[in-house]
Amino acid sequence: MAMAAARRRAPVLRRALSTAPHVAYSEPARTARIGGWLRDGRPEPERRSAAELIALEKRHGAHNYEPLPVVLSRGSGAHVWDTDGRRYLDCLSAYSAVNQGHCHPRIIAALTEQAQRLTLTSRAFHAEQLGPYSQLICEYFGYDRVLPMNTGVEAGETAIKLARRWGYQRKGVAKDQAKVVFAKNNFWGRTLNAISSSTDPTAREGFGPFLPGSVLVDYGDIEALRRALEDPTVVAVMLEPIQGEAGVVVPPPGYLTDVREACKPQDYR
Ligand SMILES: Cc1ncc(COP(=O)(O)O)c(C=O)c1O
Repeated sequence: MAMAAARRRAPVLRRALSTAPHVAYSEPARTARIGGWLRDGRPEPERRSAAELIALEKRHGAHNYEPLPVVLSRGSGAHVWDTDGRRYLDCLSAYSAVNQGHCHPRIIAALTEQAQRLTLTSRAFHAEQLGPYSQLICEYFGYDRVLPMNTGVEAGETAIKLARRWGYQRKGVAKDQAKVVFAKNNFWGRTLNAISSSTDPTAREGFGPFLPGSVLVDYGDIEALRRALEDPTVVAVMLEPIQGEAGVVVPPPGYLTDVREACKPQDYR
C-alpha cells in the first residue's frame, strides 16, 4: 500500500520537473489512470508540463480567449483531469456541449462506428442517417423541420436569417429593413452579426463596421421589450433564458412567459 501510494505521488514531481519531449498519448480513457501511471501498471509516457503546453498555445494560437491556467487532458462523466492528474468536477460542460458527460460510452461507440463506416458527406448527396435523424429530432421536440449546425453561433445566425425571410415574405417588412431585438450584455458567439448585436467592447473593438438591424433593450425589462416590438420592422427577439457571459443573470419571474406572449404574431400578412 505504502509503495503504491509512493508510486502515485512520484510522477507528479517527476512531470513537474520534466522537460522531456512530448510523446503522443492516445490510450483510451478507460485504461488511463490519474497521476502518471496506467491502470495496468505501466508508467504513462512523458508529457510536456502544463506550463509548456500553455506557452505553446500562446506562441502558436490566436489570442482570442483567456482560459484559466488549467490544461485538461481527460474526461469521464462529470469529471475532467488536468495534465498533472488533478481531478475536477466539470460544472461548465464545454458550455453545455457535453451535458451528457465526457466520453459517454454510447455516444463514443456511435461516433466511432459511424466514422469508420462513412466519415463525412457533403450536402451534395443524401446521407443515410440524415432523414432518420431529422425525423427523430422533429418528433422529439415537436419541430416542423430541422437544420443541423456545427456551432451555436451558426444556429443563431440561421435563426436570424429565417426570421428575416419570414419578415419579408409573411409580415410585409420592406426589403432590407428587418430588425431583431436583443438584450444588452448578451452573448451568442463571435461572428459579425453576434458582435454587431453585442454591448461588450472587448468583443467589438477593432472589428467594425457592424451589421445594421439590431435593437438592444435591458434584459428583464418587459416594458422596454414591448416598446421595441411596436416597431413593425421587428421580426424576432433573441435572448438567453439565463444570461451567461453577463455574469449568470436570472430574469425576473414571469419574464420569459411575458416575452413569449409579447412575441405572438398579431397583424402580419
Ligand atoms: C451563451 C452562448 N451562446 C452561444 C455560444 C456560441 O456557441 P458556439 O461556440 O458553439 O458557436 C456560446 C459560446 O461560447 C455561448 O456561451
